[in-house]
Amino acid sequence: MDRCNKLVDVGRRQFLRGGAFAAAGMATAVAMPAQAQTKAAPGLALVEYPSNKLANIADLKPNEPFDVGYPDENAPGVLLKLGMKVEGGAGPDGDIVGFSTICPHKGFPLNYNAEDRTLNCPGHYSRFDCEAGGQQIWGQATQNLPQYLLRVDDKGDVFAEGLDELIYGRLSNVL
Ligand code: FES
Repeated sequence: MDRCNKLVDVGRRQFLRGGAFAAAGMATAVAMPAQAQTKAAPGLALVEYPSNKLANIADLKPNEPFDVGYPDENAPGVLLKLGMKVEGGAGPDGDIVGFSTICPHKGFPLNYNAEDRTLNCPGHYSRFDCEAGGQQIWGQATQNLPQYLLRVDDKGDVFAEGLDELIYGRLSNVL
């Protein structure tokens, strides 16, 4: 029993010593000049998105998917004219949206269901609401569907100029 108490005591001292080192480390970090701390911080991942023309409004039929690729041809996506003003919607009626069609869970290609205006995954059945900014409404994915930032010019040309989430399998959306 006595030996056991000694071991507990040694363990306690080592724990306290470790705590002292940690406290000293924190004090050093706090005492570092602001400039040095700024240099040590990791850089922000700034991504420049291309402004790509994807279609003209005349190409889009109400509630029918129009296949596109953005920000490059290896990133399949879709434009949809939903016929009512929606979140992230562009154009004169605020009803044109665009999404990546690669499932953010494990990369399966998504299918559009015109009845409930969702994109659906045949892999593990995640579902994404196109009227609600690609919000996941069911399934395994842990993020919403990447939605395009769209701009429509006065000729009706539809441009994608960014994405609000990371496309599945990429470290950044622009290579
Ligand atoms: Fe789409 Fe798993 S790949 S839910």
